Amino acid sequence: MKLFDVYPVNDITIVKAKGSYVWDDKGLQYLDLYGGHAVISIGHTHPHYVERITNQLNKVGFYSNSIHIPLQEELADKLGKLSGKEDFQLFLCNSGAEANENALKLASFFTGRKKIIAFKKGFHGRTSLAVAATDNPNIIAPVNQTDNIIFLPLNDQEALTNCFKEQGDKIAAVIIEGIQGVGGIHIAGDEFLRQIRTLCDQYGAVYIADSVQCGYGRSGKFFSHDYAGVNADIYSMAKGMGNGFPVGGIMIAPHIPSKHFMLGTTFGGNHLACAAALAVVEVMASDNLMANALAMGDNLMHQLSQIPQLENVRGRGLMIGFDVPEKIKDLKKRLLTNQQIFTGEAKPNVIRLLPSLALNQKDADSFMEAIREEILAYENIPTTATA
Ligand SMILES: Cc1ncc(COP(=O)(O)O)c(C=O)c1O
Repeated sequence: MKLFDVYPVNDITIVKAKGSYVWDDKGLQYLDLYGGHAVISIGHTHPHYVERITNQLNKVGFYSNSIHIPLQEELADKLGKLSGKEDFQLFLCNSGAEANENALKLASFFTGRKKIIAFKKGFHGRTSLAVAATDNPNIIAPVNQTDNIIFLPLNDQEALTNCFKEQGDKIAAVIIEGIQGVGGIHIAGDEFLRQIRTLCDQYGAVYIADSVQCGYGRSGKFFSHDYAGVNADIYSMAKGMGNGFPVGGIMIAPHIPSKHFMLGTTFGGNHLACAAALAVVEVMASDNLMANALAMGDNLMHQLSQIPQLENVRGRGLMIGFDVPEKIKDLKKRLLTNQQIFTGEAKPNVIRLLPSLALNQKDADSFMEAIREEILAYENIPTTATA
């Protein structure tokens, strides 16, 4: 049997990984500023992570949610402390799409309503409702099409107010990424998020903060939505949560009650997934990774913005994007083949940096040196950047 061909792939086979580095089957070392799509949060094969999962596997790897799993309570407790949302409730699942699917369903159960406000260029996953709320017609199958999603422009306060004025009594939820990832690193403004909070309160709708990519400390705060200084009602999480182990979840505000069987999962919250997620929160707390992400991110953005060939350097913490003009548009490919550096991208011309939150100064400096060298070699135009 052959594989169903849905991804264009780089001709690279990774066989080893440590910290911010990976190695291919020929022994070539790569600096990983992509983290397998914002997934590697505490660094590859972190010793505490490997030990926590290995120990758990030697005890019990899996049992379903039909029995007590105290690791889930331990995770809820540590996650509550780290995120500052101690009074919230945790539901565990396996991926980002599943987290958003459950968040949207829960909002609809809670309000008894059907309409969802989502935003242009937003991405929420590939399952039925999550993909319907995603602004990309190419990945929405006919069966996923629904009139229940209303797409508005990001950061357009007037459009949002008008939409609530017209259909406020039908709106179950507003779903928004704090920083759009797949859409190309666009920050939801603090004022805009505060307006969402106010309108959701006024009309009885649920504010869902999709934190699958921009959450889990990547922005320098636990949730990038926290920059606005207001709470959402539901936060969806995945990617960085398991540092590569498939685990996702939603954090649910205390005023939203649970009911038996309204949500459910076979694999979600299993012993191994909890061990992986616990190792991540423990390392994030002990190694102060949110503060590191903020400092490293500020430093990188400052240096990148001094390179005249790179446009619109933007982001928060270690979720960074910049536009690459047409004449140096294969910069990402050159960084990979000439400098052995993995970066991310967004269509049509954005390079995204999504490294481990434990990125160190030496590795950030190597990246800056490499990108300057590539731009120079390419264009032969001196940059004004300073280290
Ligand atoms: C903001 C956001 N939400 C949801 C998802 C879907 O996550 P998953 O691929 O784990 O289903 C992604 C994935 O890129 C994402 O970036």
